[in-house]
Amino acid sequence: MLNIVILAAGLGKRMQSSLPKVLHAVAGKSMLAHVIENARMLEPSRIVVVVGHGADAVKAAFAHEAGLDFVLQSPQQGTGHAVMQAVPVLDDDPQSVTLVLYGDVPLVQSNTLRNLLDACGGGVAILTEKLSDPTGYGRIVRNGSGQVQRIVEHKDATAEELTLNEVNTGILAAPTARLKHWLSQLRNDNAQGEYYLTDIIGMAVAEGISVGAAHPSASWETLGVNSRAQQAQLERLWQAEQARRLLDDGVTLADPGRFDLRGTLQCGRDVFIDVGCVFEGHVVLEDGVRVGPHCVIRHSHVGAGTFIDAFSHLDNARIGQSARIGPYARLRPGADIGDTAHVGNFVEIKNSQLGKGSKANHLAYIGDAHVGERVNIGAGTITCNYDGVNKFQTVIEDDVFIGSDTQLVAPVRVGKGATLGAGTTLTKDAPAGQLTLSRTRQQTVPGWQRPVKKS
Ligand code: UD1
Ligand code: CA
Repeated sequence: MLNIVILAAGLGKRMQSSLPKVLHAVAGKSMLAHVIENARMLEPSRIVVVVGHGADAVKAAFAHEAGLDFVLQSPQQGTGHAVMQAVPVLDDDPQSVTLVLYGDVPLVQSNTLRNLLDACGGGVAILTEKLSDPTGYGRIVRNGSGQVQRIVEHKDATAEELTLNEVNTGILAAPTARLKHWLSQLRNDNAQGEYYLTDIIGMAVAEGISVGAAHPSASWETLGVNSRAQQAQLERLWQAEQARRLLDDGVTLADPGRFDLRGTLQCGRDVFIDVGCVFEGHVVLEDGVRVGPHCVIRHSHVGAGTFIDAFSHLDNARIGQSARIGPYARLRPGADIGDTAHVGNFVEIKNSQLGKGSKANHLAYIGDAHVGERVNIGAGTITCNYDGVNKFQTVIEDDVFIGSDTQLVAPVRVGKGATLGAGTTLTKDAPAGQLTLSRTRQQTVPGWQRPVKKS
């Protein structure tokens, strides 16, 4: 049985924000959401989040998530005091272990946490690391044979202890029953007048209970966020890590330093991504997809061999194989683009299917439309799908040719193989296979003269 307690009651004053610190995002997701997601990978029987500052906002942000307990810590009297608030909801099984995480240390990976749990061996384990500048951290005091004796906080340390460079990351695991006992014995007679969770280490040693140590696989895993600068720094470190994982999987990134993933990106073989792209939500790029510079792609699926050219914006779109999108295309939710179709510059498509081989190459709006195969949509064509109150459908059957600057006033249907003349305002269905146009006849006024300026 595993309990996970996430400490998230702190103020986060240096963020200079009205949003609680743990709700600030790294890679598009709140820090606390990262911690909870990594915690869930360990399949704990309980996850308890200790909230304090901004408690209501933090709880509201996770209201839709099952399997979370929130306990309030008010006022905040230290990390030991914070864990005490979680005691009543911890799983009591005699074999139960409790793992303590920090809500503002978002990127600790589940394999590191598994190593920490393995290091318990029936006793306590702490996650530590050596830092060239240990200022501010609790130091790990070991005895002559290298065994952990206790943790001393920076503010309580002697000059000699301050030279120790192995620090406490704050993350630890302990047998739940012993932890409860130790917490009840904590005192706050220290430099900060706080109940230190770290004092349980000395108590364990005094009882002859083993204290193991594990270390993070990467140093960014244990970086905490106390300021916007640290948040920005962690964002870049995490983006670099995500980029590295994609490169390892065989994706080409024109510049791993100019790549942003705020979600999950699943790539086939030989995918190429140019500079400055942002991926959000869940995105799939199949084999051989090429994404040009500065595209934003959110919750979309792109078929094999498709080329998305520069500055395109895709949101909840689905694109078939060997299609060509952009530059400057905008695909809004429900855009479903067929194989080999072309969507060119300044074309916006919303809640519409564009069939196989169809083309809308320039300056068009297609909304709430079903467009068949091999259709050619001329520049400046728009579907007038909205009367200010309701939305209406446009149906354009296969092999239609639509001349430039056409308005299709929905609901309207264009029959198979029809041609619409340029400039048509279509208000009634156009029959299949024929030319339909609405246009006032062109005239020339003989002898007309330009006005001249009055003196
Ligand atoms: C703590 C550790 C220190 C370690 C450092 C790593 C203690 C006594 N010290 O120090 O050994 O090197 O973390 O960053 O544990 N929190 C609460 N309620 C509280 C106090 C804190 O929820 O009453 C939460 C904070 O929101 C934060 C975490 O606990 O997520 C750590 O608090 P922080 O004040 O940063 O700990 P430090 O004193 O820096
Ligand atoms: Ca801290």
